[in-house]
Amino acid sequence: MKNVLFLSGSQRKDSFNRRLLNNLAKRIEGKVVIDMVKSGEVDFPLFDQDMEFNPEIQENVFAFHARISSSDAMVIACPEYNGLITPFLKNTIDWVSRLQYLNSGCANAFIDKPVLLVSASTGWSGGAVGLPSARTLFGYVGCHVMGGSITIPNINQHINEFEMVFNSDYENLINFHLNRFINVLNAVSC
Ligand SMILES: Cc1cc2nc3c(=O)[nH]c(=O)nc-3n(C[C@H](O)[C@H](O)[C@H](O)COP(=O)(O)O)c2cc1C
Repeated sequence: MKNVLFLSGSQRKDSFNRRLLNNLAKRIEGKVVIDMVKSGEVDFPLFDQDMEFNPEIQENVFAFHARISSSDAMVIACPEYNGLITPFLKNTIDWVSRLQYLNSGCANAFIDKPVLLVSASTGWSGGAVGLPSARTLFGYVGCHVMGGSITIPNINQHINEFEMVFNSDYENLINFHLNRFINVLNAVSC
């Protein structure tokens, strides 16, 4: 079975985007192995090139680089901050992207990896305004970003006490994009 890494661009404890990832993961568990990055598990300092050789930081970045490298694909939740991706997401990718230049044993962790972008926001856009910046970033580092993405506006209206609940339109949209992603994943040899 293929291994899919799920990463939320929000580390917030009650993050809607993280909850969306959990919802999506449940839909495809059994079809793929889910590697959900937990809140706080990845916590690199704000990137500063002078800190690149700090052994403690490098060890953490190396571990996450290995985790991305061993995944066959990624689902990335991208909350929208002022029309762009979150600083956390950009910072994490910046750190991991550098290892290939610092350590000859490290290849590009992102190369040719299928990526499904998803987003949720409490506003009207559902994070759709920020997704082009995510598409640019993940495309730039070498991923194959799926043409379609899942965006859920007014996410607070799709939540009951325990879980996210979607009407049939959203159910169809979500399942359509997830199925396409799984089909692509199964078609590529990883
Ligand atoms: C700094 C900041 C900027 C934001 N900018 C936007 C925005 O441009 N568009 C939008 O729809 N929501 C924006 N929001 C609202 C977030 O999308 C909303 O808080 C969302 O729930 C954050 O994701 P999370 O719940 O996964 O943490 C912003 C929130 C913050 C904290």
